[in-house]
Amino acid sequence: MLHASLSLSPAFVVSPVHRRTFGSFVEHLGRCVYTGIHDPGHPSADEDGFRKDVVQAVQELGVTTVRYPGGNFVSGYRWEDGIGPLDQRPARLDLAWHSTEPNTVGVDEFVRWCRTAGVEPMMAVNLGTRGVQEALDLLEYCNVAGGTHWSDLRRAHGAAEPHAIRMWCLGNEMDGPWQIGHKTAEEYGRLAAETARAMRMIQPDLELVACGSSGSAMPTFGAWERAVLTEAYEHVDYVSAHAYYFEEDGDLASFLASAMNMDAFIDDVVATADSVRAARKLTKRIHVSFDEWNVWYLHAAPSEPPKDSWPVAPALLEDHYNVADAVVVGNLLISLLRHSDRVQSASLAQLVNVIAPIMTEPGGRLWRQTTFHPFALTARHAVGEVLEVGLRTPTHETAKFGETPLLDAVATHDAESGDVAVFVVNRSLTEDATLEVDLRAFGDLRVAEAVTLANPDPYARATADDDASLAPVANTSATVDAAAARVVLPPVSWSMLRLVQA
Ligand code: AHR
Repeated sequence: MLHASLSLSPAFVVSPVHRRTFGSFVEHLGRCVYTGIHDPGHPSADEDGFRKDVVQAVQELGVTTVRYPGGNFVSGYRWEDGIGPLDQRPARLDLAWHSTEPNTVGVDEFVRWCRTAGVEPMMAVNLGTRGVQEALDLLEYCNVAGGTHWSDLRRAHGAAEPHAIRMWCLGNEMDGPWQIGHKTAEEYGRLAAETARAMRMIQPDLELVACGSSGSAMPTFGAWERAVLTEAYEHVDYVSAHAYYFEEDGDLASFLASAMNMDAFIDDVVATADSVRAARKLTKRIHVSFDEWNVWYLHAAPSEPPKDSWPVAPALLEDHYNVADAVVVGNLLISLLRHSDRVQSASLAQLVNVIAPIMTEPGGRLWRQTTFHPFALTARHAVGEVLEVGLRTPTHETAKFGETPLLDAVATHDAESGDVAVFVVNRSLTEDATLEVDLRAFGDLRVAEAVTLANPDPYARATADDDASLAPVANTSATVDAAAARVVLPPVSWSMLRLVQA
């Protein structure tokens, strides 16, 4: 049995919990849009063809913002193809995913879907094959009330009110050689700065995200952020970060510690942004939009259809997640929350079918992957402020990270209700761990809910036939007295402990 302890105090606060931490991502990729959120033949489809059962699952997941329409897709996208009468919309080659884009869903449908789901749209503009003018046209179409060419066209298409989209991504992964219109940092930095400057002439209070690195292993990581922000610092609010993790060569211990990489990645992006701030003698701080993160077994599921075909909505990137993957997802959320002072927006990539927590059968069932649960519970119960935690935990050696803490945790405190939530993982492959949470600073609390996601087989996966048996279950070991809460955490597990005023 391992022993760990956690001390918390309402006086030591990292930052408010930012609701945008619980964002996700819908890309025109594979079956995310078509036969994912949109399936006109489905019995639950609404008048736009959107599945109501998917909307319900998205709400249960607790998603707050949804980034759209890409991803790599956006770098070749002509947004005008997706507006107006459906029978006049062109089908186009989608070079990013070797598919055919029918343009049945475009910006107006997507915004309507967001309103139905109760999520905030986060729009990306194409800075791969296009530039400042097309970004301005899209902004005018979406956000100008009326009386101009593009805004009147939106009104003619049935949207009398502006879409009022606040957050905009200036391109996607422009550092990646795979990106259509890939650029050097200096080229992209100039384009991002000019696009942002012009967009703010239409609407000064936009929140703008410059592309950071597609991963911390990119050869240009660090230098890219420095060069881009040197050009664009004054004009943007966020720099993006993307990270995908997967178990390599059977090294489960290192995989379970993936959040260590995310922690270091965030710290490095923040340090680089702050160094530009110092060098440029500026005052405002740039925040991190971690707008793609997840477990993704890059080579497990097809990422392209056969080269001789250009199908509509092929099954791509349909990863099938196990219990260990869910523990990693829960731990990555712990990392994002712990950095809430600088990570103020994040997007689980993606939402439906494509490396997703929600899976659908065309015209048929919807089911939840293992990764659904830690996200849903964290989104629901991480409320108020993120607290600094003093975690004392045993460590072990991992091949990727050397000495690695066996437990990792974050806690939130809702000053209004007095509720405390603790999110914790046990990364040990073999041993139970007792966690003692020192609660003396909080008054009398009782355990309202203690749940754990674990399985004797960390590789167990949920299926369409049974997606319930791997959901978190009540952890009956949880107790609390005046001094502390105690709970036993099984190996390879994610847990949540919710304490409320007694
Ligand atoms: O989320 C899948 C892809 O991963 C996105 O299109 C791209 O931005 C990233 O490389």
